Amino acid sequence: MDYQWYPGHMTKARRMMQENIGLVDLVIELADARIPLSSRNPDIDSLCGNKARILLMTKADMADPARTAKFQKYFEDRGFMVIAMDARTRKANEKIKAYVEKACAAKRERDKRRGIVGRPLRAMVVGIPNVGKSTFINSFAGKASAKTGNKPGVTRGKQWIRLNKSLELLDTPGILWPKIDDETAGFHLALLGSMNDLVLNREEMVIRFIKELKASFPEILFERYGITEETGEEEALRIVAVKRNAIQKGGEPDTDRAISFILDDFRSGKLGKITLDRL
Ligand code: G4P
Repeated sequence: MDYQWYPGHMTKARRMMQENIGLVDLVIELADARIPLSSRNPDIDSLCGNKARILLMTKADMADPARTAKFQKYFEDRGFMVIAMDARTRKANEKIKAYVEKACAAKRERDKRRGIVGRPLRAMVVGIPNVGKSTFINSFAGKASAKTGNKPGVTRGKQWIRLNKSLELLDTPGILWPKIDDETAGFHLALLGSMNDLVLNREEMVIRFIKELKASFPEILFERYGITEETGEEEALRIVAVKRNAIQKGGEPDTDRAISFILDDFRSGKLGKITLDRL
C-alpha cells in the first residue's frame, strides 16, 4: 500500500524546526506509545543537533503496558530521558520538570560560570500531527502559565508560554512528518488514523491488522469479537458484521461496515490496550 506525506509539508516543517531550534535549550519530543518507532520523525536527530532532549510517550493509557516498558528501556538505553504518560492528565508534570532540569544541568552550569542566574530554560515541543502536542502543552502549562510577549532582540515574533520562573515553552508546537519511507511504519500510522482513510484500501489494512492481532494480541480478538487464531480474516469480518447486526439487504453480512467497526474500536481504545510497533 502506498502511504502519502506531502513534500511541501515536509519542507515547511523542516524550515520551522530550523528557525526555532537555535532559540531553545531543550527539545521535548512526543511519540505515540502505540507506535513509538513509527511515530518518530526520521530526521529528528539531525534536526535537533546537540540540544538536550526528553522523549514523552503519549497515549500510554491506550498502549500495551508490557511493550511500553520495553520501549521505555530501549530509548533509555539510547540515552533518552523517557516518560510514558497520558498527556490529558497532569500526573507526569513534576517528573517532566525534574527531567528538564536534569537535561539542562550542563547549560545551567555554563550560565552560572558566565554570571547569568535565573534565566529561564526554553523548550520546544515537537512531534507528528495528532500525537498530543496541544494536549500536552495545555496540561503542562495549565492555568499557572502566562504568555510572554515579544522580547525585542531575543524572541522577535515568537510567543512563549511561561510555566514558572525557570521554564518557558515555545507556544507553537513543531509539527513534524512521520516515518513513511518504512512500509510497516506507514501501515501502523494509517491504522491509527494519521492518514486520510479515503485514499487507503481499508479492507487490506484491516485484514493485515487482524493478522497482527492474531500474532500479538489473540486474547483481545477473542474477547471482543469471538475470533480465534484459526478464524480466517475474511471470515473474521463476517463474524464482526453479524455480531454488530450489520446485514445487507440480501441477508449477507456487511463486511464494509465491519471494517469501520474494527477501525473505530481500535482508534477509540475500545478494543483494549494495543501497541502495534515491536522491537
Ligand atoms: P497534536 O496537537 O499533536 O496534533 O495532538 P492533540 O493534542 O490535538 O491530540 C490529538 C488527540 O489525541 C486528541 O483527541 C487528544 O485528546 C488525544 N490525546 C492526546 N494525548 C493523549 C493521551 O495521552 N491519551 C489519550 N487517550 N488521548 C490523547 P480529540 O480531541 O478527541 O481529537 P480526535 O480524537 O478527534 O483526534
